[in-house]
Amino acid sequence: MKATVSEFDERQAAARIAELEQQVQSLHQQLLQAQKMSSVGALASSITHEFNNILMTVINYAKMGVRHKDAATRDKSFEKILAAGHRASKITTGMLSYARQQSDRREPMDLVPLVEDVLVLVEKDLQRYRIRLITDFDHHPFAAVNSGQVQQVVLNLIVNARQAMEQGGNLKISIRQHTELNQAEISIQDSGCGIPPEKLRRIFEPFFTTKTADQQGQGGTGLGLSLARDVMEAHGGRIRVESAVGGGTTFTLKFPLVPTPVKVIGNSKAG
Ligand SMILES: Nc1ncnc2c1ncn2[C@@H]1O[C@H](COP(=O)(O)OP(=O)(O)O)[C@@H](O)[C@H]1O
Ligand SMILES: [Mg+2]
Repeated sequence: MKATVSEFDERQAAARIAELEQQVQSLHQQLLQAQKMSSVGALASSITHEFNNILMTVINYAKMGVRHKDAATRDKSFEKILAAGHRASKITTGMLSYARQQSDRREPMDLVPLVEDVLVLVEKDLQRYRIRLITDFDHHPFAAVNSGQVQQVVLNLIVNARQAMEQGGNLKISIRQHTELNQAEISIQDSGCGIPPEKLRRIFEPFFTTKTADQQGQGGTGLGLSLARDVMEAHGGRIRVESAVGGGTTFTLKFPLVPTPVKVIGNSKAG
């Protein structure tokens, strides 16, 4: 009799645990989405400025086309307006696809276009803070990734880097393939303030932040790096950091390499 009761208890407890696990997973998903939106918030002001510039271009060239009746001037005006429209649409498309709630699905992808899509969103912001962007995308490694999640990680690393370079600086983004290690790597290196050792130990802790509420229009949530680590673990990868006070910081994302699909013809540097 006693045994049956405890079996029943056990079953109830197991059901409860499953339910709680489900809840934790759902909350984790929501947290990821909230952090994603907060990174977009950090860029909102620069993107709005950029849109304003694009609109000024459109308005000015439209005026020019209206005033000048000759075909050459009109053609030129239309071309400028078209180019401005394309640029605006690239940004909105990037924003929309970034903000979309994503599935957990992972698929083999070239890491270069994945990172380039993030750069469309941050380019203006970097210019505004006088940060020179240097890219090294000679390699085109493939990894099995959830592109939305990895883009979120990359964006957070770039926003962190920018916030560490208050007086401007250099941001170097490299993508490498280490065939012998079976690794695909994205590294993000800044020439910012660096992180002292006692803080370096804590930066991956949830809610650890050194940013104050309204600094540069974005309060630190302290969630970016902790979620980055979760995302990398879910990908069977790792995140590494190297930093020196006054010497800048480098974050490296390492993914297991997957074979380059045959359909994609590599350039002369492939391999
Ligand atoms: N590139 C960097 N340079 C200097 N410090 C950094 C850099 N990236 C992260 N940090 C430190 O790690 C902390 C945690 O980062 P993160 O988890 O993204 O949270 P948040 O950006 O909201 O503060 C930051 O507050 C900052 O102190
Ligand atoms: Mg951050």
